[in-house]
Amino acid sequence: MNKEQLSFHKSRRKEFSKLIGNDALAIVFGNTHRNKSYDGDYKFKQYKNFYYLTGFTEPNSALVIAPGGIKVTRSGKKNSVKELLYVQQNDERLETWNGKRMGYKNVKKSLGIENADINENLCKILHYNELKNFRKLYLNIAEMLKLTEEMKKIISEFIDSLNRIAPHTEIIDVSYILGTMRSIKTEFEINRIIAASEISIGSYNEILSILQPGMNEFEIQSALEYYYRYHGGDDTAYHPIVASGENACILHYEKNDKRLKENELLLIDSASEYNYYCSDITRTFPINGKFSNEQKQIYEIVLKANKECIKKTKPGVKFSSVAELSNRILAEGLFKAGLIKDKTKIRKYSLHGIGHHIGLDTHDAVPSSLTKNSDTDTLKPGMILTIEPGLYFTDKMKEIPAKYRGMGVRIEDVVLVTKAGPKVLTGGIVKEVKDVERMME
Ligand code: GLY
Ligand code: MN
Ligand code: MN
Repeated sequence: MNKEQLSFHKSRRKEFSKLIGNDALAIVFGNTHRNKSYDGDYKFKQYKNFYYLTGFTEPNSALVIAPGGIKVTRSGKKNSVKELLYVQQNDERLETWNGKRMGYKNVKKSLGIENADINENLCKILHYNELKNFRKLYLNIAEMLKLTEEMKKIISEFIDSLNRIAPHTEIIDVSYILGTMRSIKTEFEINRIIAASEISIGSYNEILSILQPGMNEFEIQSALEYYYRYHGGDDTAYHPIVASGENACILHYEKNDKRLKENELLLIDSASEYNYYCSDITRTFPINGKFSNEQKQIYEIVLKANKECIKKTKPGVKFSSVAELSNRILAEGLFKAGLIKDKTKIRKYSLHGIGHHIGLDTHDAVPSSLTKNSDTDTLKPGMILTIEPGLYFTDKMKEIPAKYRGMGVRIEDVVLVTKAGPKVLTGGIVKEVKDVERMME
């Protein structure tokens, strides 16, 4: 881990400590493996709040933060510590099978966390007698309850005793407080989201030169995944959606197994992850390189909503009012095209909201609400959100003329809110009709 990353995670622990106060203890668990089938697991992914505070990507770990100090016994001595990371014990046999472990002795040097121990010893502080010394106990409760394997064993007694602890020590989930911190990105985080976006942009541009009728959706998916890795990405930010024709009307379509037809549109909603930070991009392309009149008509309406909403993504603006603007533009567009008579019915065709925060999670786990009176609705510098209007016409929508049916259009960009206005991080992929058609010639 480089100095910049060390100091980012350290600053997050410092800020978090300040927010929870001296009379609090926080235990934030890392993730454990998730079983895929029989004795095989899914690729390991760290819990994001734990990652935010540590940058540590091994399973079966837990971070303890005690701003006022907690007494722990190590090597026979009792010490008061303010931060302590519990990690997997070194184990030659398991490391041969599953990969190297950092080991508690290397934690301070590698992660900058002052104290460390093996995870089994976490049991020693998960006791009523220890915990009653604190007025508040912060846990990632929802995530803790999903832990598997060795961590499940380590915490099982503690979970059984929670009903005894709870009346004496207020138990609070860390998600809100960490989510609030996570809603404003630091420069370090912004740079990672920019990197994830740049990797994705490069990959989309590769796709534009190979896309043609007769290919299969999965060929595009595989090529994107290849290019993400090739350009330096670590993973896909989410399962790629490569949806041609009517498949684009399934919002989280994941089969990606249909042949691309000459006169249809292809909606690609996919992006790379870079060092745990996500991008999230959608573009809609004509498979044969040229939009039909009807496709262009719908595309231009969505593009207008995308561009106008991006312009409005500024400090002080309510995100709910950006959503309202999108619905107004989409409704007006369909009304003028003669496709709807009642503008209030727009949600039947626009299906989803205008966007969401993005960061460590694609749909970032930060407090947000489209309730007008909630402060989480107000945009602030350092927030990063998607703007992703869409219009969808299934084959079943017989009230819509046949030429418009069986298509979905969405255009999604990642936007950083700055004092100087919106900054689009995904602008390197064409979206104007003439530019798309030129790129596909
Ligand atoms: N890729 C999921 C979304 O756009 O929200
Ligand atoms: Mn999105
Ligand atoms: Mn998306």
